[in-house]
Amino acid sequence: MIRYRVPATSANLGIGFDCLGMALNLYNVFEIEESDRFSMEGFFGSVSGKNSSDSRALEKNLFYQAYKETCETLGGALTPLSVKLKSEIPMSRGLGSSSALIVGGIYAYYFIRGLAPDKAKALEIATKIEGHPDNVTPCIFGGLCASHGSFYSRFEVSDEWKLYVLIPNYEVRTSEARKVIRQEIALHDAVSNISSALIGVDALVHFDVSKIGLLNGDTLHEPYRKQLIKDYEPCKEEALRLGAKAFLISGSGSTMLAISDKELSMDFPGIVVKEVRIDQEGATWLANC
Ligand code: HSE
Repeated sequence: MIRYRVPATSANLGIGFDCLGMALNLYNVFEIEESDRFSMEGFFGSVSGKNSSDSRALEKNLFYQAYKETCETLGGALTPLSVKLKSEIPMSRGLGSSSALIVGGIYAYYFIRGLAPDKAKALEIATKIEGHPDNVTPCIFGGLCASHGSFYSRFEVSDEWKLYVLIPNYEVRTSEARKVIRQEIALHDAVSNISSALIGVDALVHFDVSKIGLLNGDTLHEPYRKQLIKDYEPCKEEALRLGAKAFLISGSGSTMLAISDKELSMDFPGIVVKEVRIDQEGATWLANC
């Protein structure tokens, strides 16, 4: 049996819509072994692959889709797997749960064959399935990543920042959150986002408290998406009052991310607040048992 973990990710970082993402120390831990048929435990809707309704559920499972796509792309038999998942990543909350399943399925291809994952190839396959690279890139490489198609850059964010995820008890579907965004933007808004993203990444890397507030200035998605997260305005106001320097929608929500230069103590009804750290490794083999 092979055990490996895949991190949660927080995409966009406000001003980096669809191109920035950061890996966090919340994990999907997978245990896989060869079997005579597919069985998936611990997934939303466990699947055994025994009869036709189970095989329909299997086809919808993102881990399975990614594993199958990898077998088809790289060649090799679709070896049936027994997969057990223990997940700390809530579904449809803006913490990269889909990407963590996709990268899990791709890495299963490598690990079941005793191979070291080809990260560039994994990124290519994962981006094709996910549609945008901002979650899958840090999921594979760890740290803070900027992506443009198959190009990416990885940054070491200062570990002096305190990071908090605020996870509401309701979902926001990415498909819905993408519908509310405008398809055309003003030139000055584009310029504002580009300059804020460049300086904001530098501020994250160098623990520059004087510039980190630029992450708050997104003009592309947050102004439209915040209406989908009823707790956004009160939580932001309180987090900034307590000393947070940036307060963002994580991915497409509903989770929010607070970035601070000092410890914060936040308590909001119906919201789980967790202090998190940046995962620097990305998806990682843990053990052969
Ligand atoms: N960049 C994506 C979005 C992340 O904000 O829609 C969610 O998958």
